Amino acid sequence: MEFCWNCSLKEYNTFGIDAMAHLLVKYSSEGELLAFLEQYRREMSHLPLLHIGAGSNLLFLSDYSGVILFSEIKDIKIESENEDAILVSVGAGVTHDDFVLYAIQHGWYGLENLSLIPGQVGSSAVQNIGAYGVEVGDLIKSVQTISLEDGTCKTWNHDELAYSYRHSIFKDEAFRGKYAICHVVFQLKKRFTPCLSYGGLTSFIQAKNIQQETLSALQLREIIIGIREKKLPDPKVTGNAGSFFMNPIVSNDILYRIQKQYPDVPSYVVDTEHVKIPAGWLIEQCGWKGKALGPAAVHDKQALVLVNRGGATGKDILSLCKAVQESVYEKFGMRLSPEVNFIGGV
Ligand code: FAD
Ligand code: EPU
Repeated sequence: MEFCWNCSLKEYNTFGIDAMAHLLVKYSSEGELLAFLEQYRREMSHLPLLHIGAGSNLLFLSDYSGVILFSEIKDIKIESENEDAILVSVGAGVTHDDFVLYAIQHGWYGLENLSLIPGQVGSSAVQNIGAYGVEVGDLIKSVQTISLEDGTCKTWNHDELAYSYRHSIFKDEAFRGKYAICHVVFQLKKRFTPCLSYGGLTSFIQAKNIQQETLSALQLREIIIGIREKKLPDPKVTGNAGSFFMNPIVSNDILYRIQKQYPDVPSYVVDTEHVKIPAGWLIEQCGWKGKALGPAAVHDKQALVLVNRGGATGKDILSLCKAVQESVYEKFGMRLSPEVNFIGGV
């Protein structure tokens, strides 16, 4: 176990916000976490407790005068397998993209489209990360947690996890912040069947004249990485948290209203009555793409990404977030919901 008192969080969030935590605790097994939780209950239960991952979806609005937990549980273990599929248990502290590559190298398929998404495996199960037509929740068989309140262990089966677009039960008000995810069990396939249904991916593959029959999982991973690198800023160079807002899901009527003025508005069918409209398009229509507000800016290649131009505080990013929300509301009557988790007060 490792303790860091008065700890700078700059390296623990991809926005690169220079906030401080009273204490950061790194643990590398369930036993260590349980031992720390005992100590916490005895000595510091007056302090708030927060579990983070790699900080790629966090915005610290102030210093955190509490205890931050960080998992370094990193084992990868086969639970069972047959000819077609494998169940593999992965420690929450494993880097998600390392596991994607590990799985491909071992001939376990399903995660390819989620290549290069930052963060840890544990958080991926909280966030239900998604990209290019795949959501991780569809590949998660179960999740093992420890209660931060009483130290009890629980296994949550897929059906209990309430996965939907960027949502899981761990984001519900009643469960938020109450559990440490320790292991995630993935159900992966032994036969590679590429998922190429996402618009941008289909057109890329056609433009490059790539044959679906000969496409390997590793090639698909490289294609996804290439597409992502063209539009998303590398957090090691420019602080950001990926998409700052979720894409709004609206009724067909709202789409028809927008189409009257903007016949080319992009949209994706969700069900017979709803569509998803890319928030990046809404923000770009409001003229924000590439624009800055102090040290915070809207990325010039993807308007859904807010960036730290250097030295921004969480409040600087929040000011830009609010200004963008206002513009989109005024122009389209839609309130964008942040995907990023805000930590601390203003
Ligand atoms: P954090 O941001 O540290 O935490 C996220 C949430 O999980 C918090 O609520 C935290 O409390 C909770 N948490 C973390 N670990 C645990 C644990 N062990 N137990 C309990 N709770 C925990 N997301 C997508 O879905 N698709 C994308 O394509 C995508 N692209 C991105 C591109 C870039 C450049 C960046 C910077 C981000 C992108 N994201 C994307 C967002 C982000 O990578 C994901 O949300 C990711 O899952 C966050 O992982 P993390 O480890 O950084 O978690
Ligand atoms: N668009 C614009 N202007 C922009 C950005 C986008 O007009 O500046 C329009 C274009 O029409 C484009 C469409 O939006 O074709 C979709 O853009 P893109 O393919 O980049 O995807 P997105 O909807 O902006 C979502 C996810 C990403 C994920 C990609 C690929 C959300 C909130 N974001 O972005 O996830 O990687 O699809 O599947 O759902 C993240 O969550 O952090 C994230 C990066």
